[in-house]
Amino acid sequence: MKSHHIAIALSAVVLAAAAAFWFLSPPEEDDPFSSMSDEEILAAATEFYESRPYYERPFPYSEVPEGMADMRSETCGACHADVHAEWSVSTHARAYLDDAQFMEELAKSRGEYYEDQDTDYGWMCVNCHTPMINQLEQLVVGLEDDDIGRPIYVDNPFFDPEMQKDAIGCATCHVQDGVVHGPRGDTDAPHPVARAENLADERSCTRCHQAEAIYPNDVLGCFFTTGAEWEKSWAAEEDHACQDCHMPKTTRQLAEGLDLPERETRHHWFGGSLIPKHPDFEEEIAELLPIFGSGATLSLEPHPDEPCEEIDDDAFCIPLAIGVHNQFAGHLFPTGDPERHVEVEITVYNEGGDHLAEDSQWIGSRYQWYPEIKLLKDNRIPPGESLYIDVDWPKTDQKLIVEIVAHKFRMYEDDFDYHDLEGRYVRGRIFHESRWTVDPGEPAPSLVIIDDDWGQREELDPPTSSPSLR
Ligand code: HEC
Ligand code: HEC
Ligand code: HEC
Ligand code: HEC
Ligand code: HEC
Repeated sequence: MKSHHIAIALSAVVLAAAAAFWFLSPPEEDDPFSSMSDEEILAAATEFYESRPYYERPFPYSEVPEGMADMRSETCGACHADVHAEWSVSTHARAYLDDAQFMEELAKSRGEYYEDQDTDYGWMCVNCHTPMINQLEQLVVGLEDDDIGRPIYVDNPFFDPEMQKDAIGCATCHVQDGVVHGPRGDTDAPHPVARAENLADERSCTRCHQAEAIYPNDVLGCFFTTGAEWEKSWAAEEDHACQDCHMPKTTRQLAEGLDLPERETRHHWFGGSLIPKHPDFEEEIAELLPIFGSGATLSLEPHPDEPCEEIDDDAFCIPLAIGVHNQFAGHLFPTGDPERHVEVEITVYNEGGDHLAEDSQWIGSRYQWYPEIKLLKDNRIPPGESLYIDVDWPKTDQKLIVEIVAHKFRMYEDDFDYHDLEGRYVRGRIFHESRWTVDPGEPAPSLVIIDDDWGQREELDPPTSSPSLR
């Protein structure tokens, strides 16, 4: 890899060692960065990043707010304990070392996977997963031959290795230029505060959750369009920003152990698919299931079209379909990472338990990644809309038992196996199971039992609005 590693603040001992190193292997070319001050390095990196599209940039450097030793999330949590506890179980807090798939993909992007790979795209990945300049071990000051796979690195004099582990931490969203930005900006805090411009609207999320970065020559794609999907949704029309669903409202003190008023504020769980990032994290997010629920509800119901036209005269027509309704997500279901998908399995039995038929349906986008990135299909469900699954009903006049099981997945199975993630990562989870009975002569299905994120019950009783919106 032809990147330049430049030591910046050197003690006399290290300096001597470095001099010996340069003596033994002189640099190939003159290095203009070796004589720069910390501030000059930061300025050069900032200038480079600002010349790039927004999705290739980290969040700007900030100095530590006055009165604080550092701006690690744990430090904020000393006073904001409730917020910190919620954030700690969020995927934002798990977006770096805790995310085994990310670490695999990062190593691959950095060229650590294949011996013959001499490119490094990893500098882009860390800009959203450990987003602040303060969290980056190395900064980029340019690209060799204008090639995004050949970053010119310098060691970051402002790197805080502990803060790197925070991934998307408190400071990412709240700290700019040494000032804590909040929705009010007038609280009496022991740190400087200012009123944030975009914190309460979708822009504080789409900065990372809307990116269409595709580099065809590099077979590299990093794209998700949650922001654009949301913009066209009923949720945007009704003025529900991302926060309304992902950060439900609550009333409480903003910091504990102090004499403070209760204020209307927001939870910091950022619940989404609620697929844990590691098998060990399943328990810590279990209580969030009924709070967030899933984006889609499923039921066996009258077929919206006319499914029986082509059926044999002597067969029973059962004009039923599985409806998958994107009731609660303010964007496509599923959204985000292109490998996310849902699989619905339908099994039909008779009352004696004999297996009569089965069907399944994939809902998601299907990409081919190599040798070029190509969209093969995409049947994700737009917000407020439904997808109906046709079932090949068995030709019988027996009473039928229909079982529906729906899984949501973060990634394709072949990629999961390729990275050998079993035990280190969770590919997906079941979010809906239900059992129905159908009398083919009189095809009004009746629900026997349903078990989904809202709990187990014997009536469909679908929640009427997303619990987090209530
Ligand atoms: C600095 C970039 C960044 C910002 C800003 C950001 N996110 Fe995220 N978010 C991420 C990353 C990266 C992940 C995925 C981490 C992973 O899977 O390892 C994520 C994950 C999520 C998830 C969870 C997905 C899942 O299935 O677990 C939700 C929900 C979410 N973000 C919502 C929001 C909302 C709402 C906002 C705005 C208030 C926001 N994000 C702001 C980068 C960001
Ligand atoms: C992904 C972005 C994001 C992250 C990460 C994040 N917050 Fe927030 N925070 C917000 C948003 C958005 C609001 C609510 C704005 C509103 O009320 O509309 C908020 C509100 C708050 C408030 C309440 C302010 C008020 O006046 O109501 C506090 C306190 C707070 N956050 C502290 C923290 C702490 C501490 C952490 C880390 C443990 C953290 N936040 C992490 C986005 C974030
Ligand atoms: C020593 C305790 C303490 C620490 C440490 C601390 N805060 Fe605060 N913070 C407070 C208090 C007290 C308030 C005011 C609460 C009130 O008036 O309701 C506050 C207010 C806030 C607000 C609301 C600002 C506004 O006016 O809109 C945010 C956001 C916030 N803090 C985030 C953070 C973040 C992020 C960190 C870490 C970088 C942090 N705080 C560290 C005690 C602390
Ligand atoms: C009307 C409520 C609502 C709004 C508004 C909304 N979301 Fe979601 N979002 C959901 C629900 C519900 C899910 C869970 C989907 C599921 O079942 O997996 C979700 C899932 C996600 C996920 C995880 C990926 C997935 O499909 O599971 C991300 C990331 C996300 N939302 C980001 C955002 C961002 C960013 C915005 C704003 C641009 C936003 N959401 C607006 C309700 C909403
Ligand atoms: C523009 C910001 C941004 C950049 C740059 C970025 N990511 Fe992400 N990443 C996200 C967000 C936002 C999510 C959450 C997407 C979702 O789940 O909806 C995410 C999620 C992920 C996930 C988890 C996917 C899942 O379904 O759980 C992996 C793995 C990942 N990113 C790897 C990478 C790699 C590797 C790179 C560099 C090639 C990269 N990211 C660059 C923002 C970014």
